[in-house]
Amino acid sequence: MKPIVFISYAGESLEEAKWIHWYLHDILHWNVHNYTVSSSRYPGSAPDALESELHTSDLFIQILKTKLGASAAWTSDVPILRWEFENFQNNHPNETSRYLLLNFQNGDDATKKYISDVSSFVNPKTPACLQEMLADVMNFSTQQQSRYGELVGGFLDFKSEMELLDIRKALAKNRLAKSDVIMDQKHLYASPYAAQLWIDLTTSNKMSPLKIVYDRYPFDNDIGRMPKVALEAKKSIDKWINEFKSGVAPLELNVIVLGGGDGIRKLKTCKWLHKECDVASINALLVDISPDLLAVAAERFKNSQVTGTNTSFAIIDIEQRPKAIREVRQRMMPPGPGLFMFLGPTLCNVTGASFLEDLQKHSMESGDLMFCEVLLCDTPTVQQGKNAGDDSRFDFITNPLLTLSIVPERKCFFEEMTVDSSGNLQSHVWYYKTGADRYNLATVMAAHRTHWQEAFKDAGFDVLDIQEHEYKVQNKKIKFGYVIAKKP
Ligand SMILES: C[S@@+](CC[C@H](N)C(=O)[O-])C[C@H]1O[C@@H](n2cnc3c(N)ncnc32)[C@H](O)[C@@H]1O
Repeated sequence: MKPIVFISYAGESLEEAKWIHWYLHDILHWNVHNYTVSSSRYPGSAPDALESELHTSDLFIQILKTKLGASAAWTSDVPILRWEFENFQNNHPNETSRYLLLNFQNGDDATKKYISDVSSFVNPKTPACLQEMLADVMNFSTQQQSRYGELVGGFLDFKSEMELLDIRKALAKNRLAKSDVIMDQKHLYASPYAAQLWIDLTTSNKMSPLKIVYDRYPFDNDIGRMPKVALEAKKSIDKWINEFKSGVAPLELNVIVLGGGDGIRKLKTCKWLHKECDVASINALLVDISPDLLAVAAERFKNSQVTGTNTSFAIIDIEQRPKAIREVRQRMMPPGPGLFMFLGPTLCNVTGASFLEDLQKHSMESGDLMFCEVLLCDTPTVQQGKNAGDDSRFDFITNPLLTLSIVPERKCFFEEMTVDSSGNLQSHVWYYKTGADRYNLATVMAAHRTHWQEAFKDAGFDVLDIQEHEYKVQNKKIKFGYVIAKKP
């Protein structure tokens, strides 16, 4: 079942309304009530026609710019946008998930008051199914030179969202194919709840090895003497920067952060580049699939000394739409060398075979640099199906199961290590449901240095350097690699 959407807007937002109509109707194939301006829209009785559309709509999108529209006798002198909101609300009094408010600019006082009146009613969360649309809405508002493209609300709890959520579709599809269901790693981040779990895992959960690793990140001005890994990486980055410097003119660097999460280590790296690598200024473009993580990262960057107002952001699925990264960059950043940062090490979770090549070919410009964090392994050992009971990652890794109405239990949570013929280690976290059903919720690959070297080379990169850095975590050593590779 496709939802029927009502787009509420004043005449000044016709362009945005057309655009959103196009996206929902032509791309998502949702049913959208006619959106043309009111005089031609309702030649007969406007109130009756409007009321009937509002009554038959499942979802309500309102576009706000500066005005709430005219009032009329039949609206009891209430501005038309407020009237539409209240009318729809009367039909769905307790269902906040049906509202999406797109607020493009600071409006007049009446609009501001209206926003504060309605925002408690509007669901402050953002659903996965609308991420692409929101990315485009953001791009659109940037194109219109609107400094302010805010999104309030979402359809998170709406029933048909379950059908729309990619994760459910993907899992259901795979499920028909075979009993082992492999989930794309991106689904781990598909909800505001998931985003919070990820932040907990990396910044506040003291039991989490990831937090320990993240706290000791070596590309950080505040940790005293520069560790060897940073000293060596600096040499390769400096060499690359020097190719672009004309005379003594300082370099303006474009940093494109892929899957930046909450942005904490990306901002540290930007500050480090600024201080250590003779970079005069940095423009940052943050790209992520999770609007919630992106919002945290964008806030962090916007409040920073390094990039400040030169920060832009976009919600893009980098696996599905690598070209969009280049398009957004061209729109939002000045021409000039770009340093792509891909940490996490998210590359170790991505299973798409052509992912690196797609990035190289479609997302990057010639001469751009990739700074990528990967996991390295020395002597991997196979471990079959170990119960992963008190694993600090439990909540985070199992959270997508909730969308399948499965409430995860620890006893069904297993970890397995396999080693391929080249000696690379794969860690799989499985969730066993009933009988033969099992979901592979997270895959992490730790590989030999030569594997990463070849992977980047095969994808068309010139590998300039791979630096190794060992983290000590609860008596264990975890080795990371920092690949520095250039698009020729
Ligand atoms: C392992 S986390 C790494 C976060 C951050 N880079 C760090 O170092 O902590 C993966 C990040 O990539 C994002 N992500 C995963 N798949 C993605 C995709 N297909 N497109 C865009 N972002 C994605 C997630 O939302 C998350 O922020």
